[in-house]
Amino acid sequence: MKPLFIVANWKERMDSAQAGKWLTQFSIFNFQFPNKEVIICPPFTLLSQVKQFIQDHQLPLKLGAQTISQFAEGAHTGEESGEMLKEFVEYVIIGHSERRALGETDEILQVKVNQALQFGLTPIYCVSSPTMSVPKDVTIVAYEPVSAIGSGQPDTPENANEVATSIKQKFSFVQTVLYGGSVTAENVAVFTNQEQINGVLVGGASLDANSFSSIIRNA
Ligand code: PGA
Repeated sequence: MKPLFIVANWKERMDSAQAGKWLTQFSIFNFQFPNKEVIICPPFTLLSQVKQFIQDHQLPLKLGAQTISQFAEGAHTGEESGEMLKEFVEYVIIGHSERRALGETDEILQVKVNQALQFGLTPIYCVSSPTMSVPKDVTIVAYEPVSAIGSGQPDTPENANEVATSIKQKFSFVQTVLYGGSVTAENVAVFTNQEQINGVLVGGASLDANSFSSIIRNA
């Protein structure tokens, strides 16, 4: 079986009580998932709590941030640098379409990728179409068509596989392509069974520990 990445993007959701409940429920399932790198990306406010829980309960989960500052440090109100993030996370989502919509350009995203790499974080770089560029040295790309995000209307697995193939052909440094957009426990396997798809990025369905666990099991 090929190794898979299963990434949960909690977005601007969950408070500490809800996160605590999610983690407790997840830990009770107590199942193993060898060959699957499962990465949780909570909001910044929950990183410390989630990290502590993972450590205390020795859960096989990794942590990611949902974005990173383009600045190394300084007077940048509201920003979290790579150096700050590396205390908590190994991964960082960069270029999600919801952040591009707020004005993050390819130039800014390139700088963010550089910041992540400089501090030893692995970028999970999001693109919404096969024509978008990917900064050099990015190894993990998430293909997420905007129309599929949060809509219940995922892309077809065949098209997602074609896009994954073309991204890997175009950018030889990309080793891993994830699919994201309305992934559920019911449809995850049809995506992960595609030859060139190496995992999934999950928004809505990751907010429930039960459905996220089913996604991991079914992938
Ligand atoms: P969704 O979100 O699973 O809720 O469609 C995916 C994403 O935006 O990463």
